Amino acid sequence: MTDPVYVTDALIAEDIDAYLEQHQQKSLLRFITCGSVDDGKSTLIGRLLYDSKMIFEDQLAALEADSKRVGTQGQEIDFALLVDGLAAEREQGITIDVAYRFFTTEKRKFIVADTPGHEQYTRNMVTGASTADLAVILIDARKGVLTQTRRHSFLAHLIGIKHIVLAVNKMDLVGYDKSVFDRITLAYRAFASEIGITNFTAIPISGFKGDNITALSDNTPWFKGPALIEHLENVEIGAAADEAKPFRLPVQWVNRPNLDFRGFSGQLASGKVRPGDAVRILPSGKTTTVDRIVTLDGDLGEAVAGQSVTLTLADEVDCSRGDVIAAADAPPEAADQFEATLVWMADEAMIAGRAYWLKLATQSVSATIQQPKYEINVNTLDHLAAKTLDLNGIGVVELSTDKPIVFEAYGDNRTSPNKVMGGFILIDKLTNATVAAGMLHFSLRRAQNVHWQATDIDRDMRANLKNQRPALLWFTGLSGSGKSTIANLVEKKLHRMNRHSFLLDGDNVRHGLNRDLGFTEADRIENIRRVGEVAKLMSDAGLIVITAFISPFRVEREMVRGMLPEGEFIEVFIDTPLAEAEKRDVKGLYKKARAGQLKNFTGIDSPYEAPESPEIRIDTTAMTPEEAADLIIDRLLG
Ligand code: ADX
Repeated sequence: MTDPVYVTDALIAEDIDAYLEQHQQKSLLRFITCGSVDDGKSTLIGRLLYDSKMIFEDQLAALEADSKRVGTQGQEIDFALLVDGLAAEREQGITIDVAYRFFTTEKRKFIVADTPGHEQYTRNMVTGASTADLAVILIDARKGVLTQTRRHSFLAHLIGIKHIVLAVNKMDLVGYDKSVFDRITLAYRAFASEIGITNFTAIPISGFKGDNITALSDNTPWFKGPALIEHLENVEIGAAADEAKPFRLPVQWVNRPNLDFRGFSGQLASGKVRPGDAVRILPSGKTTTVDRIVTLDGDLGEAVAGQSVTLTLADEVDCSRGDVIAAADAPPEAADQFEATLVWMADEAMIAGRAYWLKLATQSVSATIQQPKYEINVNTLDHLAAKTLDLNGIGVVELSTDKPIVFEAYGDNRTSPNKVMGGFILIDKLTNATVAAGMLHFSLRRAQNVHWQATDIDRDMRANLKNQRPALLWFTGLSGSGKSTIANLVEKKLHRMNRHSFLLDGDNVRHGLNRDLGFTEADRIENIRRVGEVAKLMSDAGLIVITAFISPFRVEREMVRGMLPEGEFIEVFIDTPLAEAEKRDVKGLYKKARAGQLKNFTGIDSPYEAPESPEIRIDTTAMTPEEAADLIIDRLLG
């Protein structure tokens, strides 16, 4: 290799406008590199940056100094140091988070997501790969196809990356032996076809020495190309594919600066749109036509996939954030039950039955996951029975949302995947952390065939007949805190006041409706879900419903709150300290739990999440049950 010149493009200094113009014209390829710690991934990326001359002189000086200090390549430049930017990483010799790097050649611009290869790979790889067009799967020529090669390939395929490059690295260390390269390529082909990768490009390289990176190397005369950068420059990327699909615009926000203008802003997920086009608003299904396509630079005659625009419509139709404006004759589906693949990315395992926020395009809804149908062992591709998914676990699940969402099947990499309308993330409702990424397969037919029947008598009419307003008094607190006692008193008092009520009590419901449930986290969540549904039906019947369940988890209590009309859910926290409940020990259960004869007992070896801002808080150490009941009734009726 000749010595590269350590300056960036001379045009920057001479004519910055021309330089920027030149860059704007070039297409952009986003790709990821996958490999483990020793496969030479960072070295390869460093090499790409270096060979494309995107290193500044001061960086280079630092690199040379660092190479001598902590490098692993003797006196030579250690390109990995260019990439492993963080000091902590350098010292540990691993890459930690996804780092995006930009470089450019004459033909094309590139953004490479460098994803770590150690055991926490999945989360980072999914993050990096979600926008990538191509994946470079690195293999150490001395080691061949390894377990992680399979994992990375499976994930890349799952996410819908269409172009796979098999970079057989460190060819210098196997004497540039053709048979080594051929053997690895053959082994990879067998595996790739198993998971549905029909096409990949294998390239023998040395990131360290620079073989077959920018140009074909004399060391591998048997390899006819292309060199890596050449391939990256020429591979076809599918912006055209997105434009060919039907038009969809997920509405990001409604732009209403004054009474005369109402526009719907967002980025086109697919297709094209022109003024005069017939469109359908989903999920409502209303149709209208496009009036104008407004942008900061004036009105457009056409907008295509990827562009951000504001549409005005010919008619005053209801359309708000989260709705999707679509081609009238090819609308996407709206549904509330799905099969999906989930990649779990949180330290805390998935909890079947729990509600999470689901975000898809600009929509945000509450979603509940059922127990996985199966988990996929990414190393063997076996389907395993599973009750949950742990960090990095991948599984197929069924999930339901609390209202219909507009979606399209994610698809796989045989077609261009619907990343925007088929990909989603799940967010923990308490911590707001992203816990999973998912891909929708299809809506469940059983949901398609179940419709809401309109009934003529509604909840208000039923309540009016009873001369009352429905409400749900949701008692929560430790076992033995006094929930049942106080709830019972409240119902007696309401009854005397001619109010129609119903008390659902934990111990009682567990003898019937919920007798199949125990006290694991999942069972308690299902217990509360069912009780919530029953309480909702009863409040629809016009009743004042009182429930007395420990209901230890905040998320489920909030889920029930969300099921009822605003203001109807009244959280009553029976606040008895553990020590006090244990001292009373009315059922003798605390003693049993302390003796180890009762597992998962709330407050002992199972958690209780106290309400943060309950509507009513009862301190049972400061008032009698009678006083507590009066206070609750005052708050309810007063
Ligand atoms: S919840 O956690 O799912 O809301 P729920 O209120 O239905 O619990 O049932 C609690 C009652 O079940 C307690 O008052 C107690 O009598 C009984 N019980 C039996 N085992 C347990 C346990 N491991 N933890 C808590 N309560 C238990």
